[in-house]
Amino acid sequence: MKNTISTIQEQKKKGEKISMLTAYDYSTAKLMDEAGVNTLLVGDSLGMTMLGYEDTLSVTMEDMIHHTAAVSRGAKNAFVIADMPFMSYQTSVYDAVVNAGRLMKEGRANAVKLEGGVTVCPQIKAISECSIPVVAHLGMTPQSVNVFGGFKVQGKDEAAALKLIQDAIEIEKAGACMVVLECVPKKLAGYISSVLSIPTIGIGAGAGCDGQVLVYQDMLAMFSDFTPKFVKKFADVGDVMKEAFTEFINEIQSGQFPADEHSFKVNDETDYEKLAQKLKS
Ligand code: KIV
Repeated sequence: MKNTISTIQEQKKKGEKISMLTAYDYSTAKLMDEAGVNTLLVGDSLGMTMLGYEDTLSVTMEDMIHHTAAVSRGAKNAFVIADMPFMSYQTSVYDAVVNAGRLMKEGRANAVKLEGGVTVCPQIKAISECSIPVVAHLGMTPQSVNVFGGFKVQGKDEAAALKLIQDAIEIEKAGACMVVLECVPKKLAGYISSVLSIPTIGIGAGAGCDGQVLVYQDMLAMFSDFTPKFVKKFADVGDVMKEAFTEFINEIQSGQFPADEHSFKVNDETDYEKLAQKLKS
């Protein structure tokens, strides 16, 4: 069944948890879709996981459109959300609408995601008024890493918690259809989830959220640059890949690969030495 914003919001009402994974390419998106993951997030985390940057700031609209289009082609049933990259919406409401439109038209996303609370409410309102579902992102918003001074838990003291609650209420009022809560204390995230009617998707925000998201390379142990505390490794795919790559090298060197079954045969009667003589005559 195709996941839509209505089916996802219905899941919250029924108390059914929502699953979300990041995806950046066609074949991985297809596997996640076949497994039944509700929503695929083309996160700007692709800057780190796919492109090797140290943060998300260098990711461009072109990067996001390219990867979103690939994921959308692989997602038959999953709801595809595309991240709006740094400076594609902060600059003005106009830029926000134009760039959200590009992610929908060129990337074929089902929704866009942007980071921030009260300050980006005009953007959330304007984009949703163009019939584009908007997912908000609060807490540790990676595009603000330079203001936070690192990837740190947010909402720890009362003033910060109150600000987060206010942001959550305001983004819902502005028209957000869902919100990601990243690195927020469990009790606070649970409280926000109980006061909002839109679904909350947690990452390092505890089990009280309406759904959970992880970066897929983290949950498959494929990315070793750094692993946040909230990551659970569901499989050691990184090790399996490395073993297969080593085996590939070994089999090429030993002559075990390619075997006859991996080779093409046309006419074994032909003497190519003799045939090549024709080039000289
Ligand atoms: O970019 C991303 O992958 C994200 C998730 C970490 C929520 O925003």
